[in-house]
Amino acid sequence: MAELILVLDEGTTSTRAMLFDPSGRCLGARSADLTRQYPEPGRVEHDAAEIWEKTVACGRAVVDAAGGTDRIAAIGIANQRETVIFWDRETGEPLAPAIGWQDRRTAAYCRKLRESGEESAVQARTGLLLDPYFSGSKIAWAMDNLAEVAEAGDRLAIGTVESWLVWKLTGGLHVTDATNASRTLMMGLGSGSWDDGLTAMFRAPRAALPEIVDSAGNFGTTTVFGGEIPICGLAGDQQAATIGQACLEKGDSKGTFGTGAFLLANAGTTPPKSRKRLLATVAWQLGGKRTYAIEGSIFVAGSLIQWLRDSVGLIGDAAATEELARSVKDNGGVYLVPALSGIGAPWWEPEARAAISGLSFSTGRAHIVRAALEAMAHQTVDLKTAFAADGADWARLKVDGGMVANDWLTQDLSNMLGIPVERPQFAETTALGAAMLAGVGCGWFEDLHAAAAMRGATDMFEPAMGKQARQRRLDGWHHAVESVIGAAH
Ligand code: G3P
Repeated sequence: MAELILVLDEGTTSTRAMLFDPSGRCLGARSADLTRQYPEPGRVEHDAAEIWEKTVACGRAVVDAAGGTDRIAAIGIANQRETVIFWDRETGEPLAPAIGWQDRRTAAYCRKLRESGEESAVQARTGLLLDPYFSGSKIAWAMDNLAEVAEAGDRLAIGTVESWLVWKLTGGLHVTDATNASRTLMMGLGSGSWDDGLTAMFRAPRAALPEIVDSAGNFGTTTVFGGEIPICGLAGDQQAATIGQACLEKGDSKGTFGTGAFLLANAGTTPPKSRKRLLATVAWQLGGKRTYAIEGSIFVAGSLIQWLRDSVGLIGDAAATEELARSVKDNGGVYLVPALSGIGAPWWEPEARAAISGLSFSTGRAHIVRAALEAMAHQTVDLKTAFAADGADWARLKVDGGMVANDWLTQDLSNMLGIPVERPQFAETTALGAAMLAGVGCGWFEDLHAAAAMRGATDMFEPAMGKQARQRRLDGWHHAVESVIGAAH
């Protein structure tokens, strides 16, 4: 009996396969780390072949351990968004390294477009801003600079990661779901279709682009894991986490603190317009109807801790940060602005670079680590302020992602935001959201509200910090972040 859903959750630093039953229990998981290349400062590349091979290997391992494909009702896919892959339709092989969402090589190109006054029209059509983060300028760069892509002609296929995986799984189906398409800078937010003016602007040949489809349905079958399994759920990972956190009503908000941190608030069924440089994006599309979200994207979250561990050698492992943060009474005047790959919402300054300020002889390792953790709450408070000014303030924030396993950090978020912060006991919210979509797509559930029964128990963190201490922190942070932004101009 097919009673399980297989989720492939392809993130920036690792790829995972997980099995869920209809009650939301996770019955198996495998993961593999992914390599990223940094060929030059500001460039971040992935090997699409590695993404495919490791994703399939993880999938095979969990399916085999569960007794084979007969037990699998459907596949749900969640993926790192905006990263672009170029491949050859005939060979099914990548034509070039994938350009990652963190890649900033098109900063000057985007600035030029902004200076020529293109941004407001682009924002009105797509909900996005002219920043290197999104796929569009990465595609333009590849068409201009990579002969193997520009000269591939009819053989060229372009897609985000879920498109690449679906193509490989099905042997040639070329689709993207509306959540991922809404991150390309080329999809009309209101229409859910490719915008001809924008595909032309970013020189993306229409024939190379995938068909935009719903986030749940029956998108084709794969035999890669043994017997046939239908692919029934597709979503960008942040949208999947929004669903996995059951942010199903307008105003429900979540923050995922993974490689980056992404704050999304359900905005209902009319495309929202931000006046505060937040993003308007598709939360999900079902039956051709879109539900939207407002998003604030923080580019550096868990990757800051990884950098402190791997490049700076300040800590032995991420878990050590909690004890270090608790070991000092405050940050000792140290502030860390983690603009290691530019800075995202609400500033959008791709050329900003990180800074640690307020160092003195009394500064110790623990102060720097504490400042790194505090930077998560500082950035999130700035987003809450922007969401509020856009009429979408948060009454409560649901959090997930690797970083919020740290109780100190989660409490600090609640203290600094001044609202309750809710953390699910089962942390893999992104995978759960993809399972919920696949559950709708394969007919397990009538809709996402019914699928939300898969979400389990949560823990609540209530704010407990004096006004003055909070204000002191915010003043110190704003001083630090403004000098980083100032230095980038
Ligand atoms: O927009 C980028 C985002 O999808 C990356 O997610 O989970 O790899 O931090 P993650």
